This record gives sequence, structure tokens and C-alpha cells, in this order.
Amino acid sequence: MNESVLVVGSANMDLVARVRRFPNPGETILCNDFAMYPGGKGANQAVCCAKLGARVDFIAKTGDDIFRERLIQSLSRHGVRTALISSDGSASTGVALILVEDGGQNEITVVSGTNMLLLPADLEGHPRPFKEARVALLQLEIPLETVMKALQLAKMGGAITILNPAPARDLPLALLRFIDVLTPNETECEMLSGIRVVDEDSAEEAAVNLLRKGVKNVVVTMGDKGALRVNASGSRFFDALRVEAVDTTAAGDAFNGALAVSLGAGKTLDEAIGFANSVAAFSVTRKGAQTSMPTMDEFNEFLKSQED
Ligand code: RIB
Repeated sequence: MNESVLVVGSANMDLVARVRRFPNPGETILCNDFAMYPGGKGANQAVCCAKLGARVDFIAKTGDDIFRERLIQSLSRHGVRTALISSDGSASTGVALILVEDGGQNEITVVSGTNMLLLPADLEGHPRPFKEARVALLQLEIPLETVMKALQLAKMGGAITILNPAPARDLPLALLRFIDVLTPNETECEMLSGIRVVDEDSAEEAAVNLLRKGVKNVVVTMGDKGALRVNASGSRFFDALRVEAVDTTAAGDAFNGALAVSLGAGKTLDEAIGFANSVAAFSVTRKGAQTSMPTMDEFNEFLKSQED
């Protein structure tokens, strides 16, 4: 695939400790499995797209520190265009403190740093990626005004826009109208709609509420259960592949990256969701964020092994 995807978003250095179980409030626990991985939802999604073969521009902001170098190295090694990653020495590069429990579940705290200094003005003067992109992919680890501006510019350029509303926060109605595909997980869907999401039916009800607010398509990602697509033509559930989870960090990023690549290749939304579901399943079988994204060859091998 050689589609053009534009990602505007965050870049973090992930500091990851693997623990037997999460500590309770006030409790100290010991472990001895620690690693640093390049991460950040924006950067992870950009790497996912590039590893799957898309041409990817990534607009982000880092500090002037050692993490910048490491993050840019990882992005470039995977083929992401990094020329539009600016720096600002007045804050540190984003950092994520991650605990991964036996069984693969995670808890994440992000220190935003320079991600929150990526402003609408940083998008001005770079018309090329907005004109070239077939798909623009955004998340919520950067200021909301920047997300809004990027969505507007991308729509003006004719791109399909995907917003992965993670981490969850309230979104202005004006922004929802610029989104072609909204991809909340269950918690984010609940927060955006105000409807409690506990199963497929309540997820559908919440998604319909978001359609009424102006979003064209809602895809609710439901972890190891699968994903639910809701739009004007109705709803459809896509079962997840059964895999042994090692680390669920960035599974949502794998889903969104793969969705963008597939839509960019001209696939229908349902085809793209089927692909994204399987790429997300692959990612939970590997440790780390960007390290868990497959190339197309690795993905095809994985699918073959699932058939055996
Ligand atoms: O989605 C996973 C990502 O969330 C991690 O890489 C971490 O940096 C946080 O942004």
C-alpha cells in the first residue's frame, strides 16, 4: 500500500514497568522488569501506518532533550517523515509512566510536556501534507484547538478524517462535524455520549447519540470483544481474533493506524474495520507501543498462523 496519511499528534517516551498486579493507593510494590519504548498515541499511529506501507507525514512537537532524538530515530527508522516535528526547549518531551500487569492490561499516566505546546499556528505554513493526505488521523493528547484546526485543514484538502478521542475529554459540537470516523473505546464513548456503556446494546445507543451530534460514523473499540460500527446504514459488530495478550499498550493505536491505511487504500469502512481488528490483535501479542506494530509481511504471517 502506498497511501498518504497525515498524523497530527503526540510523541512520548514510555517508561514501562511490568508488575504482577497494580499497586493499591498508598501501596509500594517491587518489580524488576523495566524498559523504555518510543510511544505517544500520535507517534504510535504514525509508525503503525508507515510499517503497513503508507506514506506518512507526522506533525508533532518535542522538547530539546535526549528523548527527542530517540523518538525521531524510531519514527525515521520506520519510515515516518519527521521534518514537521518541531521542538521547544521551554518544556520536556512528553513522557508516559506505564504499568503493565500480568495478562497484559495497563495503567498509563502521561506527562504532556511539549505535546500541549503544539498550537494551531504550528500547522500554518505547511499546506502540503494537508493537500496530499487521503486520510488525516488525530487523537486528543494535544490541545483541542490544534485538533480542530487540523481537522478543518484536512477536510478542506479533501481527506477522510479520523478522530481517536483518546484520552477522553469533552468535545465541542463544532468539532464533531469535521469528523468522518470517530473511534472511541467504551469509556470514551460513555464520556462523550453521557450514556453508560456496558455491552454491545448500550454501546450502540451511545454511538447513535454521537451520530445525532453530527459525527458520520462511530466505531466503538471494545478490547478483546471486538468493534462495533454504527452509521446511517445501521450497526454491525466485528468479533476480535482470539490471541494470548502480552501487552495491550497501543492496541487502540494499532487499530486506528490500520483503519487509516485501509481507508486510504480505498477500502470500505467495514473492510477497514476487519483489517484494523486483526492488526490490533497482532499488537497485543508484542511488548511495547511502536515495537508492537506489524509490517505487512509480519501481519500476513500472523494471519496464517491463526488459520493453522
Ligand atoms: O496508546 C498508548 C500510548 O498512550 C502510549 O504509548 C503512551 O505514550 C500514551 O500516550
